[in-house]
Amino acid sequence: MSSSAATFWSNHQGYAVNWFQFCAPYIWRRVTGDPKMPLTHWALSITGKPAHLLEVGCLDGKKLAGLLKAGLAERASGMDIAAGAIERGRDLHPELELFVGDLNHPDLPEETYDVILANGVLHHIENIETCAHALRAALKPGGWLISGDFTGPRRYAYSDEEIALIHEGQLMLPQEIRGDLFHPDQIATKLQNDPSESISTTIIVPTLRSVFDEVIERKYGGNVLQRALTKRFFRTFDAAKPEHVAAVERMEVFDEAVSQDYSSHLLCFTQSSLGGEQQFHEIASQRDDLACICELTPKYDVHGGRRIHSRIQNCVC
Ligand SMILES: C[S@@+](CC[C@H](N)C(=O)[O-])C[C@H]1O[C@@H](n2cnc3c(N)ncnc32)[C@H](O)[C@@H]1O
Repeated sequence: MSSSAATFWSNHQGYAVNWFQFCAPYIWRRVTGDPKMPLTHWALSITGKPAHLLEVGCLDGKKLAGLLKAGLAERASGMDIAAGAIERGRDLHPELELFVGDLNHPDLPEETYDVILANGVLHHIENIETCAHALRAALKPGGWLISGDFTGPRRYAYSDEEIALIHEGQLMLPQEIRGDLFHPDQIATKLQNDPSESISTTIIVPTLRSVFDEVIERKYGGNVLQRALTKRFFRTFDAAKPEHVAAVERMEVFDEAVSQDYSSHLLCFTQSSLGGEQQFHEIASQRDDLACICELTPKYDVHGGRRIHSRIQNCVC
């Protein structure tokens, strides 16, 4: 498993435009309350500037280098299983301390980091419990793990109800930007090429809950958007056409409603000692951009497939 992932990610040539980049203002607003506030910048403003930041699954360290340059950490280390990416990263970003490591068999120094970032990596880890214990042990007492990840169906095994909701979202788009309706065959090759893809999605949060003292979750959806925005959409979407923009806005409202209870993407803060929840709420209550957005919102029960209405559940106030 780990060696296939290492080969796959060493050969990775960067990301095509995807929903995560395209819908960044939607995601950022849902997590931070501010459509212009990137997730990691916001998360680090809650934890405080780390004297030593570690990013696990950092690929070639591009994102980490940006955080260091922006003054969001004093010192930055990065770890990834993909030796090729780490080698590239050492050339590109000599200011980072990059090393090869496998989170399935972690070998991290103890009580070393103030904050560990894990973006889109935990869903690739089979030995998630061993990994979570190692991450906790690598944090200084009171340190934070910030994990943003896909928590949707394991190995993308979407239920019929989930697929029906994705189709409902796609049908909100004008035909010229829609692309084919989602079918699991469309992602079969991706799953074949990387056997670690989405291996442990549904157990990430329960495992973090069992290993860390506190877990604070912020949902950001993606249940519909991640699959409904196809290659054709990214090729043909025209921001100058009001009907295209309005269709995406409708789909974002729909995605938010669908993902109130069960969100396919989450940002989690976990702290290695008690006090985190209180600290989070104290900081959150002082900040305007974290204002509670409780309001009546249409909600979808993903498993029952029916529309219900109720209050937003995941407010922080
Ligand atoms: C989806 S990419 C995310 C990359 C980056 N964190 C980002 O946010 O763009 C997943 C990353 O996890 C790394 N990875 C996968 N399995 C791993 C393992 N067992 N140990 C360490 N890193 C792993 C991959 O090499 C890849 O860099």
